[in-house]
Amino acid sequence: MNGRRAAIPGVTLTTVTPNEYVREVLPETQPLWGGPRDFARYEADFRAVAQSAYGRSRPFTVGMRDAGRLVVSCKLYDREMRWGTKTLRATGIGAVFTIPAHRGRGFASAMLGALLDEERVAGRDIAFLYSDIHPAFYERLGFIRLPSRNLTLRAASLDGSHSGAAPLGPRDWPGLRRCFEELDGQRPWTLARTPLVWEWLRRMWSSPPPASVQRVQLVVRHKREIVTYVIGRRVLREDSFVVDDFAFAGDAGRARLSAVLRAAAGDLRRVSAWLPPPIARDALPRGSVRVRRDGIFMVAPLSAAARAWWKSEKDEILGARSDATWAADHV
Ligand SMILES: CC(C)(COP(=O)(O)OP(=O)(O)OC[C@H]1O[C@@H](n2cnc3c(N)ncnc32)[C@H](O)[C@@H]1OP(=O)(O)O)[C@@H](O)C(=O)NCCC(=O)NCCS
Repeated sequence: MNGRRAAIPGVTLTTVTPNEYVREVLPETQPLWGGPRDFARYEADFRAVAQSAYGRSRPFTVGMRDAGRLVVSCKLYDREMRWGTKTLRATGIGAVFTIPAHRGRGFASAMLGALLDEERVAGRDIAFLYSDIHPAFYERLGFIRLPSRNLTLRAASLDGSHSGAAPLGPRDWPGLRRCFEELDGQRPWTLARTPLVWEWLRRMWSSPPPASVQRVQLVVRHKREIVTYVIGRRVLREDSFVVDDFAFAGDAGRARLSAVLRAAAGDLRRVSAWLPPPIARDALPRGSVRVRRDGIFMVAPLSAAARAWWKSEKDEILGARSDATWAADHV
């Protein structure tokens, strides 16, 4: 049992089918998480993930019913955590939601408590989430809060020389993946990106953006290999280029990063990114670093292996000048 929670008599955790989720949850969450999307688009985005191989690799949505009504729900993402030569089974939890009339009655706590128990019994090692609310709520359930910061760079402070970047093409994904893995493989631990995770990311980054947002996806090649890439969005209203993902391979790739970010920003004044893991942080200018109010990374070790991971990595993670996960790990 993780932290404090109380079961609610007669209420148990159940799988929620995509159709049930579309009917019972999406109309409630659209005002909160739909952004500029209309309902059809919000639904289509949900179904795209739910019906992907990734979304079908385990029950994607779960929840609890009270008198037949689905009152609390969340999404589950199947991930692997690589730690040296070990692989820990990780469960990402997203979109925790209680319908307004049922809030404050323990439903979200009961759902998460039951979920952590089930995951542990099923042999999962660790649960993680990115909190958009005060982390105290999840801390009560046994989650630990990890440093989560935002980095803002002035575009003018970036390398203004010719970047040599070209738009990412449909055939570039294997090369892009190699580039990422060369960098990420140097980390002592990471949330591994399996082919299914890449497929999910690619789908997300390929969906048409809202009207005031432009997607920018650039790659730099050196001897035909992709050595730098930047994926993100020009958010015109915020005068910012928001970085969704980037990586570089070797010195040649690292040397191009600043210029590619500048090219990606175009005429916008700022580049904003989640503070990336240490191996990537040092390739970026210092910029201005602020604690994030949302997307706060939290973990709940469930097994002895995950507790050993936390004991071994804790000091490094909590004391680092950079964060533990990539923006693309956000669920
Ligand atoms: C957060 C949420 C899921 C809680 O659901 P719930 O069923 O009311 O939760 P519980 O009844 O188990 O627990 C209630 C606790 O949540 C806490 N809580 C609610 N909103 C919170 C917030 N923004 N920050 C921190 N804690 C919060 C309350 O303080 C309460 O604790 P208390 O009773 O000890 O004071 C619900 O408020 C919700 O759906 N909010 C909108 C969606 C959202 O923000 N989800 C979280 C995404 S990370």
